[in-house]
Amino acid sequence: TDLSRIRNFSIVAHIDHGKSTLADRLIQLTGTVAERDMKAQLLDAMDIERERGITIKANSVRIDYPAQDGQTYVLNLIDTPGHVDFAYEVSRSMRAVEGSLLVVDATQGVEAQTLANVYQAIDAGHEIVPVLNKIDLPAAEPARIREQIEDVIGIEAHDAIEISAKTGLGIPDVLEAIVQRLPAPKGDRDAPLKAMLVDSWYDSYLGVVVLIRVMDGVIRKGDTIRMMKTQATYKLDTLAVLKPAMTQIDELGPGEIGVFTASIKQVRDTRVGDTITHEKKQTATALPGFKPSVPVVFCGLFPVDANDFEDLRDAIEKLALNDASFTYEMETSAALGFGFRCGFLGLLHLEVVRDRLEREYDIDLITTAPSVVYRLHLKSGEVKELHNPADMPDLTLVSHIEEPRIKATIMVPDDYLGDVLKLCQDRRGIQADLTYAGTRPLVVYDLPLNEVVFDFYDRLKSVTKGYASFDYQLTGYREDNLVKMQILVNDEPVDALSMMVHRDRAEMRGRAMVEKLKDLIPRHMFKIPIQAAIGGKVIARETLSALRKDVTAKCYGGDATRKRKLLDKQKAGKKKMRQFGKVEIPQEAFISALKMD
Ligand code: GTP
Repeated sequence: TDLSRIRNFSIVAHIDHGKSTLADRLIQLTGTVAERDMKAQLLDAMDIERERGITIKANSVRIDYPAQDGQTYVLNLIDTPGHVDFAYEVSRSMRAVEGSLLVVDATQGVEAQTLANVYQAIDAGHEIVPVLNKIDLPAAEPARIREQIEDVIGIEAHDAIEISAKTGLGIPDVLEAIVQRLPAPKGDRDAPLKAMLVDSWYDSYLGVVVLIRVMDGVIRKGDTIRMMKTQATYKLDTLAVLKPAMTQIDELGPGEIGVFTASIKQVRDTRVGDTITHEKKQTATALPGFKPSVPVVFCGLFPVDANDFEDLRDAIEKLALNDASFTYEMETSAALGFGFRCGFLGLLHLEVVRDRLEREYDIDLITTAPSVVYRLHLKSGEVKELHNPADMPDLTLVSHIEEPRIKATIMVPDDYLGDVLKLCQDRRGIQADLTYAGTRPLVVYDLPLNEVVFDFYDRLKSVTKGYASFDYQLTGYREDNLVKMQILVNDEPVDALSMMVHRDRAEMRGRAMVEKLKDLIPRHMFKIPIQAAIGGKVIARETLSALRKDVTAKCYGGDATRKRKLLDKQKAGKKKMRQFGKVEIPQEAFISALKMD
């Protein structure tokens, strides 16, 4: 295709501002998908994404658009994930396109993720077309939002397009603006092949599918290519474009976006951001490389029923085929037996993976306390990464500990500002900035990641009745007074409940945990002490009193079926319990005990 008739773009938006709905409308209006095949949120392929309404995997679609100037244009939309955990995936797909539609909900205005995403688009050198969505709603205030976009983001917004992705109003204007306002790609057809590996995923029929953007040269079916970072070579089996169904094509030239398969076994063999060139005629310079995505949150996943371990291993291996950002290794816990220590990009990522394991593979899981990666400076001078509090060496060997910090950007209505500042302060935050985006406060805090990983986002939503928006990025490591806190149930340490905490907050966290556990652990025939301790020192204690009567006692001599029913019920309840010494702890205790209310 002639370069002047290609437009490559992405859509950036805060979550729920209507990105997926707009993508659907663009696909529908251009007849890319037959009406009968149209289903809502076409690009959100996975069920779980559909249910939660979030986009996880970047994906792409090619649209043929006959424009008002009489020419037919090829529009390539690369869809990007909308959640903070996946900021890295957003940044890499941005490098593959020249422009962005900035979608802002005209009833809500600019939010934290609008800012984060649009700055990435600006960094990538994009031309940006602002689009005001949900104009069909009576609460829409397009004039005010235009001004807000200009004030807060600092881009021209007087010609922002007013649309309703729901009713279809204004969609033709968006298509025209893509053609007229976004730049055509550049590239040299006669130069050696240089293509960017944008994304890859595992397909059970085709194996690994690789999404690429051609910069220079031409790639054809049957070509032998080389990935410059891994130095691996492959012969292409198929070359196709996504419409969004895979449609075979003979070649892709400069500016074009498409996919290939080449008998690649696992997603891990492909590096996002790698440069693809021809084996015979190689390009002299690779594209600037991207940093690999690194997991920042770790937790242990253990089967409730030890017999499910092999099933869990299979399930994790299958999931990892399609998600190279998720890491795992086997772990043994004194309390929980065999399981896996897994690394995630963030909490949402953790939740998504855990949900898929439980639902798609039907395995009941115990999740241990999420932990960030600490840097241990040992007295020997060695520096070690700590992914698991259970691996914490003897304190006498440690000189000091550093923890990761983040820059959190929070936007919140004035009424809730006080609650948000208090929440951040309670989580050891240091206020970095407080400004106004139009009339709404924009708060920037420097926070320790370990105070955020567990329930910060939930708490933020609840103290602001859902009105706050949040975004964060890792900023670096800083030394602090951190200790390992253990929980002992009936005098036995439960390793899966141990966690790293700040020394000043240890008593408070310890107290909260033992109180919670007292409610979560059912009473037994004997009394059970529940303690929190640092080293050998107990810092909080509760005692669960003994159960007086046998549950079935009152049935003795009487109704046998009733007794059996009671025992069956107990047995069913036990399924989700784990035995620790003489004590049974229910599965949900592991997660609930960590919540701070
Ligand atoms: P993520 O994919 O989760 O990032 O969200 P999104 O930005 O793609 O939002 P989505 O398209 O899922 O839309 C969010 C909600 O807003 C859905 O319930 C849509 O039906 C609704 N919505 C989208 N566009 C419009 C619109 O123009 N008018 C109205 N009234 N509702 C809309």
